[in-house]
Amino acid sequence: MQEGIDPLVIKKVEDLRKALHRHNYRYYVLDDPEISDSEYDRMMQELIKLETDYPDLSSPDSPTLRVGAPPLDKFETVVHSIPMLSLDNGFKDSDIIEFDRRVKRNLDTDGDIIYTAEPKLDGVAIELVYENGRLVTASTRGDGFNGELITSNARTIRSVPMVLESKEDKNIPSYLEVRGEVFIRKEGFKRLNDERLQQNLPPFANPRNAAAGSLRQLDSRITANRPLEIFFYGIGVVSDFDMESHGDILYALQALGFRINPNIRCKITLNEVLDYYRELSEKRHLLPYDIDGVVVKVDGIGLQQTLGATSRSPRWAIAYKFKAIQETTRITGIEVQVGRTGVLTPVAHLVPVTIGGVRVSRATLHNEDEIKRKDIRIGDTVLVQRAGDVIPEVVKVIDSKRTGQEIRFKMPQHCPVCNSSVVRAEDESALRCINTTCSAQVKERIKHFASKGAFDIDGLGDKLVEQLVDRGLIFSYADIFGLNEDTLKNLERMGQKSAANIVDAIEKSKRITLDRFIYSLGIRHVGEHVAGILATAFGSLEELIHATRDDLIAIQGVGPVVAESIADFFEQDENRNSVNDIVAGGVQISGETPRKPGGLEGKVFVLTGTLETLTRSQAKEIIETAGGKVTGSVSRNTDYLVAGTSPGSKLKRADDLGVDIIDEKTLKRLTIDQ
Ligand code: IVH
Repeated sequence: MQEGIDPLVIKKVEDLRKALHRHNYRYYVLDDPEISDSEYDRMMQELIKLETDYPDLSSPDSPTLRVGAPPLDKFETVVHSIPMLSLDNGFKDSDIIEFDRRVKRNLDTDGDIIYTAEPKLDGVAIELVYENGRLVTASTRGDGFNGELITSNARTIRSVPMVLESKEDKNIPSYLEVRGEVFIRKEGFKRLNDERLQQNLPPFANPRNAAAGSLRQLDSRITANRPLEIFFYGIGVVSDFDMESHGDILYALQALGFRINPNIRCKITLNEVLDYYRELSEKRHLLPYDIDGVVVKVDGIGLQQTLGATSRSPRWAIAYKFKAIQETTRITGIEVQVGRTGVLTPVAHLVPVTIGGVRVSRATLHNEDEIKRKDIRIGDTVLVQRAGDVIPEVVKVIDSKRTGQEIRFKMPQHCPVCNSSVVRAEDESALRCINTTCSAQVKERIKHFASKGAFDIDGLGDKLVEQLVDRGLIFSYADIFGLNEDTLKNLERMGQKSAANIVDAIEKSKRITLDRFIYSLGIRHVGEHVAGILATAFGSLEELIHATRDDLIAIQGVGPVVAESIADFFEQDENRNSVNDIVAGGVQISGETPRKPGGLEGKVFVLTGTLETLTRSQAKEIIETAGGKVTGSVSRNTDYLVAGTSPGSKLKRADDLGVDIIDEKTLKRLTIDQ
């Protein structure tokens, strides 16, 4: 029903949809965006507005549906035209060699079989149906025969095409069923769970559960906020699609705009499959998502058809699973470590085991509640898990191995490092050492400050930080900027050259972006992601420091717990001083959005006492350049009194009138980047 609508409006809506689909494809499928995020957002807003003004122009293909649709009461059931089978598993080379023999036997051939091998993603299988190039339905695998209709949810996944466009002049099939694995990256999973913890929601056990839970939301607006992605790996029923090999099908799908895994290997021999498995099992930790093996598929479609399937799985494919990332071993002792924010973490010492190729001799026990919940005791035989680059953890106790000799563990009443009292805050499972000057906390804070995502000071590693703190050479962040070659070269395992390199690295680290600077402060709940959000939202350190709880909560991605933690951090004098000292140490924050012009416009300053680095006229100049004004005496109209050493009577008068009294460092900060 488009009668009566200005054709120009109709055209505009069509153009916007087309452009948004294209940019979406470039961004999420090709990973090669052409326009900025803000430009994309602007176009999306324009389309949303037009669709609101002209509801008759609504369409199931509109990119605006990526943000979700009104909630459903329940999911409808769908029957898959071709069952979505599962796969047989192999665990060692001989299982795959045996699979290859079986294939040859069933095909009655001696010749080499050609395979395609793909990473086996650990996610959730879905099927999408396209009619004349438009997405019409999406369903979960369900029990393989019947799935649930989750079309609105699938539309929110940015790498799911809503409209197909032939990228290489290939005909678009009039009917197409395509299958793929929906997953969440490791990083997105971590972020999602951090957010859930902050909202007092139970965290997801693993990225697979998170993906499954997100896909099965009746309210697709929730799904839209989950970082779901998809790789396509196969087809169901398709019209006019004559392909002879599985590899060709995958590339044909790619040419239609479907995202396929870049790590697949097509048309390879059995030996190459085994090499591929080894390569991928070594590199799996480097991939941004979890994979649990390799799927090996007979490449020829004719051969696949001849081989057929059992009721459970096809005879032409097998999953070659990776080695367990869980092993059993024994706990020989429990040590308590003190972290950057004072949290006491119990860590189990283990009889060393190799898990997925890495030697593991310690595993985190998280906290007291976890030890109780899992009833972990010293001497227990336990199941230990190592996933990717995360710290190994104890999954559970093997009860049958209990001898009765095991010793229960109790968390200490005092900090094991500085002996201060420990407290357990209400609604927290962690015990904390309350002494912020505890050397363990100091060391961990400084390690964090110098780490990769923060100041990234090359050479200032854990061991060196520990030595420097133990020798009393550094205590605060700013002390790092006072280190020189003479101090460093006398340390263990340090020569003139390395000392010079470190001083050089410290110097280089002094130019830093705002997000890294914020992250480096080690504020609780402020990881790299939140630091990025804060940097974008506030644009400058000064704005962030003065943000109220309300200002913070108003930012998308910042919840009440995070807001409280940030506001609390900057309310403490020692933290503000610490930030001032870092800046005074010569650190320059690059890329701060300059304060709105006139940020100091109309502000009235008075100077008193002797300033350390500025003459009176220099101070006056920087204030005036920033839009402020300098007057000679303090009155009710004065906004700031800048006080140096030996201040005069102006100080008392300002104090009496409640005028803000600031020092030279603060003055410099207020006027930075103006
Ligand atoms: S092929 C009949 N390819 O593994 C062929 N499956 O255990 C079965 N999976 O339900 C699917 N990555 O969820 C295939 N590259 C891939 C896969 C893959 C992950 C999942 C899929 C399937 C399960 C079978």
